[in-house]
Amino acid sequence: MTSNSPGMPTRRQVLGTAGVAACGVALAGCGVGVPPEPVVPPGIKGKVIAKTSDVPVGGGTVIMDWKIILTQPSEGVFKAFTANCPHKGCLVGRFSEKAVECPCHGSTFALDTGACLGGPAGAPLKEFPLRLDGDGIVLV
Ligand code: FES
Repeated sequence: MTSNSPGMPTRRQVLGTAGVAACGVALAGCGVGVPPEPVVPPGIKGKVIAKTSDVPVGGGTVIMDWKIILTQPSEGVFKAFTANCPHKGCLVGRFSEKAVECPCHGSTFALDTGACLGGPAGAPLKEFPLRLDGDGIVLV
């Protein structure tokens, strides 16, 4: 499958490993209230949303269109989580070894489980189940 295949995100939709200083982009109400319960966006379940090569080992990638992060905590192990921080809804996306950080208030989350490693967030990132389809990553 190529990046021009139906259902595949364009390069523009998938960001690299650089941080996403996106508090203002995440939610207009960042800093106010509790973020809504994350759900897999309609229309992408069962479709390839990224290639495994888009996700670095020991890091991750943010898919901005759907506010999902894909991580590869160890070679060949892929995980998908909501990119919305459970603290106040900013987009997480500053990757470091074994963790992803929220740029708004500095909460950190484990790349492999989404567990909160450091607050102020008091909850993990919600994980979405996925499967691999060749070199494609599919949310199920
Ligand atoms: S929104 Fe506050 S740490 Fe993420």
